[in-house]
Amino acid sequence: MAARPHILLVDDDERLRTAAGKVLAAEGYRVLSAASGREALEILQQAAVALVISDLRLPDLDGIALLKQARELLPETEVVMITGHGSVEKAVEAMRLGAYDFIEKPLDSAALLKTVAKALEKQRLASENRQLRRQLQQRRGVEALVGDSPPMQAVKQLIRQIAPTDVHVLIQGESGTGKEIVADALHDLSGRRVQSLVKISCAAIPETLLESELFGHERGAFTGAAAARPGKFELADGGTLLLDEIAEMTPQLQAKLLRVLQDGSFQRLGGTREIRVNVRLLCATHTDIPQAIEEGKFRHDLYYRINTVQIVLPPLRERREDIPLLAGHFLRKYAAAMGRAVRVIAPRALDQLLAHLWPGNVRELDHVLQRAVALANGDTIRGFTFAPTASRDGRAAVRDESGISIPIGATVDEATKCLVAATIEHCAGNKLKAARMLGIPPRTMYRHFSDL
Ligand SMILES: Nc1ncnc2c1ncn2[C@@H]1O[C@H](COP(=O)(O)OP(=O)(O)OP(=O)(O)O)[C@@H](O)[C@H]1O
Ligand SMILES: [Mg+2]
Repeated sequence: MAARPHILLVDDDERLRTAAGKVLAAEGYRVLSAASGREALEILQQAAVALVISDLRLPDLDGIALLKQARELLPETEVVMITGHGSVEKAVEAMRLGAYDFIEKPLDSAALLKTVAKALEKQRLASENRQLRRQLQQRRGVEALVGDSPPMQAVKQLIRQIAPTDVHVLIQGESGTGKEIVADALHDLSGRRVQSLVKISCAAIPETLLESELFGHERGAFTGAAAARPGKFELADGGTLLLDEIAEMTPQLQAKLLRVLQDGSFQRLGGTREIRVNVRLLCATHTDIPQAIEEGKFRHDLYYRINTVQIVLPPLRERREDIPLLAGHFLRKYAAAMGRAVRVIAPRALDQLLAHLWPGNVRELDHVLQRAVALANGDTIRGFTFAPTASRDGRAAVRDESGISIPIGATVDEATKCLVAATIEHCAGNKLKAARMLGIPPRTMYRHFSDL
């Protein structure tokens, strides 16, 4: 609603309308007025009214009927009732029916303004919340996954198919490919959406803590366990549990998790009570688990338990046709968030995005667009800069002490960029030295690789 909200004053007493109207207008509110309930309803259907202040007793519809209709027609509009002498009971009924408050006659200016300010603040917060919720709902489920490439279409189809079931899902994909969005979508499209989706990263928490985070502990289970606490499995009861970075779990904890999945029950640390929960398990990882199994780092029996269905998110470089869509999505998102008028990506700039290797996948694209929108002048983005680290430390171009390995499928431009970036790094940032090593003129270095 506009910065200066409309207030609708409804009373058949013209003197009261005029007096209250003056008080409100002096505060900067825009005031509309109506002498009857019907007149009020007509106005409500046309103007965006944030607040109705209405007498309880009106010539046609009474105030209560107006309140009911207003709440039904316009749930975002607040209503304050004006009560005459001795109509407290009716005022209470009005509050029960959703009126924000009531003010008594004769109207006191200060009390009126105070009530109006509070009612409008509530109205503003509620309408902001509704708007946020609407925005979120728009991008619920698979809609949150931007991308129309064949592999993404297949991923979305698979999500729709398995979301309503209780099968365990392993979500695999390089860092930044959208594994968490897939987990959100699986939960949102399941019957469990009314319960919680609980997330925990096995990489972020030390092993000793992770066990009690997952399974909870009783009081005194270990030093510092002053009170009993339920674990994530209990918190997710009836809902979904996402174990992120599952490959980072230690062998001991893998063994315990396997037992829990086999038995369907567990005990809190330091506890004896068997706890049974109904949890749908999702696991995510960027690690190649079959390889981790071969290296003895992951239990194959646990792998079979958590991997009833696998969703593999391809890296962004393998679905380049999604880049324009994703770029447009982030452009609109950040332009709106920062209040910028940027609308367009120039063709040359889009070519840059299409040529980049995206070792950080969609997350990197997100950051590149965010930076570009923040730095943009006018309505067009004419060029992008890529964070040098992104093209150096990603898994796409693998680096070790002696060199880099560039995957087949990379373009010459990307390969060149990776080599130049790695050489600059090898020369501790000294671009002149790097140019000499690469056998290119310093001018070329500064002109073509200024962003590295
Ligand atoms: N298909 C997509 N559409 C829209 N946004 C996406 C998409 N994929 C990823 N993102 C965005 O990219 C960022 C990274 O996504 P997410 O956190 O799901 O990645 P991840 O695979 O879990 O990475 P990590 O392994 O590093 O945890 C988020 O901001 C997410 O909103
Ligand atoms: Mg993640």
